[in-house]
Amino acid sequence: MKIKAYAIKEKGGKPAPFYYEREIGDNEVSVKIIYCSVARGDVQFISNDWGDTKFPLVPGHEIVGVVEETGANVTALKTGDRVGIGYQQEACFECEFCKAGNEQFCVQQKVICVDCYGGLADHIIVDNRFAFKLPSALYSANAVPLLSSGVTVYSAIERAQLPDRAVVGVLGAGGLGQLAIRFLHKMGHEVYVFSHSLEKKEMINQLGAEFVLSSNADNITAINKQFDFIISTLNVPYDPDTFLRLLKPQGKFCLVASPLNKTPVSLGLLYDYVQRTIYGNYVGSRKNMTDMLNFAAKHHIESEVEVMPFHKMNEAIEKVKAGEVNIRLILENHE
Ligand SMILES: NC(=O)c1ccc[n+]([C@@H]2O[C@H](COP(=O)([O-])OP(=O)(O)OC[C@H]3O[C@@H](n4cnc5c(N)ncnc54)[C@H](OP(=O)(O)O)[C@@H]3O)[C@@H](O)[C@H]2O)c1
Ligand SMILES: [Zn+2]
Repeated sequence: MKIKAYAIKEKGGKPAPFYYEREIGDNEVSVKIIYCSVARGDVQFISNDWGDTKFPLVPGHEIVGVVEETGANVTALKTGDRVGIGYQQEACFECEFCKAGNEQFCVQQKVICVDCYGGLADHIIVDNRFAFKLPSALYSANAVPLLSSGVTVYSAIERAQLPDRAVVGVLGAGGLGQLAIRFLHKMGHEVYVFSHSLEKKEMINQLGAEFVLSSNADNITAINKQFDFIISTLNVPYDPDTFLRLLKPQGKFCLVASPLNKTPVSLGLLYDYVQRTIYGNYVGSRKNMTDMLNFAAKHHIESEVEVMPFHKMNEAIEKVKAGEVNIRLILENHE
């Protein structure tokens, strides 16, 4: 079928109409796109921050739509199903990682922006195993950020195996950070948010978390060795040592983002009298996605979003680029 999309032709370019042909495979579904977010990661792909962007680039890796057609082997989904689609589009389902249920590490995986076209389009064709039925309790537009930001922070938190009522920190209250706060709060933990944006204090308090101004070092040193877990969503330069010091013995520091430049860490902070752990977390598995969607539905976890029509995609991209948004921008396809 002929898919109408919007592509960026070169590094830093603007989206323009772009058509591509794609036939539906036996394991695939064709999904009419209703909503697609403009996330920080999309803007970073447009500026080729990580050097692996393939142009022409059709960004958009948090998608909600409706199944229009199913391939011959598809039994789990049917026409009319409302589905969410994230970053990963394909896996081999045969390698050691796929067999262990960690498809996100598959050596043959395909992901949006690097291997295939994304959600800034009227349709997307994807392996049905990467199109997830949305629980009915979730509103479509507000559920969009769950599909990448949500699964990433949820699986990062799951891996920490936190004790009950842990003391936890979230660095950065953006797309990923706000979802991390919501999950951690509903899991029953005591949440502190380290943010450089004073105007987010009220929103953070309303989410049930304490606001800490990250630029105020005095605030931070006063609570050293208090935390079981800290998750960082920061992609700007910062000093990890400050936050490692906040961790209790055996505390865990999880990175789901990092600055582009190398970041020095005092390695002694990992072992001297403490045995702390640093780990990274890359999106999540299909099981993480299903567990996360069920948890979100049960606890009414959705993102606060601003919905804009598809034709304002350029404005949305520029706003995210300029750091002018405090909540996720979601594009709605009216066609
Ligand atoms: N690991 C994975 O698999 C995975 C998956 C999805 C996304 N990501 C990555 O996660 C990162 C964050 O994405 P996002 O959508 O959450 O981005 P975002 O909405 O832009 O949030 C990032 C947050 O960082 C803080 N920040 C921004 N500029 C800052 C500055 N100059 N100084 C201090 N803090 C600053 C802000 O929080 P405050 O205003 O509260 O300080 C901002 O809200 C991106 O790099 C993305 O690529 C990783
Ligand atoms: Zn595989």
